[in-house]
Amino acid sequence: MSNNSLNAPALFDLTGSVALVTGAGSGIGQCIALGLAQCGAKVACLDRRDDGGLDTTIEMINTAGGTGLSLQADVTNRESLDDAVARTEKSLGPLGIAVNAAGIANANPAQDMLEDQFQTLMDINLKGIFFSCQAEAKAMLRHGKGSIINIASMSGVIVNRGLEQCHYNASKAGVIHMGKSMAMEWVAGGVRVNSISPGYTATPMNTRPEMVHQTKEFEEQTPMGRMASVHEMVGPAIFLASDASSYCTGVDLLVDGGFCCW
Ligand SMILES: NC(=O)c1ccc[n+]([C@@H]2O[C@H](COP(=O)([O-])OP(=O)(O)OC[C@H]3O[C@@H](n4cnc5c(N)ncnc54)[C@H](O)[C@@H]3O)[C@@H](O)[C@H]2O)c1
Repeated sequence: MSNNSLNAPALFDLTGSVALVTGAGSGIGQCIALGLAQCGAKVACLDRRDDGGLDTTIEMINTAGGTGLSLQADVTNRESLDDAVARTEKSLGPLGIAVNAAGIANANPAQDMLEDQFQTLMDINLKGIFFSCQAEAKAMLRHGKGSIINIASMSGVIVNRGLEQCHYNASKAGVIHMGKSMAMEWVAGGVRVNSISPGYTATPMNTRPEMVHQTKEFEEQTPMGRMASVHEMVGPAIFLASDASSYCTGVDLLVDGGFCCW
């Protein structure tokens, strides 16, 4: 391929693409949904909440001149995800991009953790990502092209000092390695699977009043001396969603302010 044919800005252009974002009613998923729409994708926004979060996302997309579709569903329900993909394709067109950001976090010392707490988190954070990828990939494999981005966490790579959340850390390590495994199963079918592992990010998950003391510690422990803003997850997502990353699959992109270097 001659260098004369290179058009670098076009690599990031998502015009005409169709995306599905889970966890799009808040935080990282909401901001990534808006960012994909600003780059030209039509975006189906899925969340289980019915508190107006999804409406806000759709309003933001509309204000940006984009096209959004609201889908209320729970990622622990496999049929709902198949249905969500079908509704996305019927309303917006063939699915080409998926960002799986739905997730929860909580903590409890390992010796006290009840089975229910462990299982509920795993059902959402690990099995929910599996069901999401499975439904999305079935459509993408039919089209012979697609990019799936799972939102894992640096907690899948390190153990957060002072946070007793072995189930959360294990779920995120699972998301990273499951993603690499699916990437290899689907590489010949044209479907790429990568993950983004955020460091501490200022979202409702971390900015509750009772977290003020902990937030200060998060900032002190991070080499960049601050938490990430949700906006800082958007560039990495656009990169992995677009042709700019056409030779990347099975990659976990740490976006952590340098946290994992120390
Ligand atoms: N905030 C951070 O510091 C941080 C760091 C690393 C990774 N993450 C990960 O990023 C992702 C997004 O987190 P966030 O900080 O934006 O949190 P958030 O709470 O703001 O958003 C999570 C969204 O997921 C939705 N959700 C939860 N369970 C669901 C289910 N079963 N079905 C459908 N939707 C569901 C929630 O309703 C919510 O809108 C999570 O996977 C989280 O683990 C967050």
